[in-house]
Amino acid sequence: MKGVILAGGLGSRLLPLTKITNKHLLPVYDKPMIYYPIQSLVDAGINEIVIVTGGHYAGDFLNLLGNGKSFGLKRINYAYQEGEGGIADALRLAREFTGDDKIAVILGDNILENTIKPFVDAFKAQAKGAKILLKEVHDPQRFGVAEVDKSGKVLSIEEKPKNPKSNLAVIGVYMYDSNVYDIIATLKPSGRGELEITDVNNAYLKQGTLTSDTISGWWTDAGTFPSLYRASRLVAEHVEPELKEKWF
Ligand code: DAU
Repeated sequence: MKGVILAGGLGSRLLPLTKITNKHLLPVYDKPMIYYPIQSLVDAGINEIVIVTGGHYAGDFLNLLGNGKSFGLKRINYAYQEGEGGIADALRLAREFTGDDKIAVILGDNILENTIKPFVDAFKAQAKGAKILLKEVHDPQRFGVAEVDKSGKVLSIEEKPKNPKSNLAVIGVYMYDSNVYDIIATLKPSGRGELEITDVNNAYLKQGTLTSDTISGWWTDAGTFPSLYRASRLVAEHVEPELKEKWF
């Protein structure tokens, strides 16, 4: 299984910080944001990854990460996304690196407290299709939202719904078989002009090959000022629990 980290986009919600660097190179407590998704994949036993990035500062990823040896990676490949065509548009560019392999995809601004290894292992054993991961949140309108039945089966997924059917966010960790690239090729841009990852997940749902799991521990994205701040604080309290008592 290969890993894909999507770190393109313009990070416009974090201007002016992103005027002089790529969003995924900004600090989250004591490390650049991109370190966390890399570590999540490495902890799951994945040692070959492709990073899709874009914009003016793409070269800085190479300066920072080099060949990935310091993470214990066998190889890092880099792909360049022109423009901001959406998460599924960025994923499209990973095709030539991942070929017929299954993939674990993680958004470059997603940070998790716990390992994703059990889910990656479960997906390795899944004959085909896709797996998404869910987490209860208090602000589901900001995310892809899954409606699930009593047995945990996903019934529908909506991207940033005004009236969410549940408080279960679809987090930015997705597992796919190699059919994902053929699915992306059928997608049309959404109202916001992007190829949506939610449309990819809904295509697998329609095929009947989508599975889901709910994660334990905290999870956050870091693409807005409140979530970037929250991410730093969660990481700080995780690595130095005594800070919790000292903050203010
Ligand atoms: O964080 C989880 C959420 O991420 C999901 O619940 C949503 O379903 C999913 O659409 C996404 O929502 P966001 O609106 O938060 O995505 P955002 O545009 O912030 O992009 C997240 C990451 O995806 C970003 O850090 C880099 C990558 N990306 C995004 C775009 C638009 C790309 O690589 N290329 C792109 O063109």
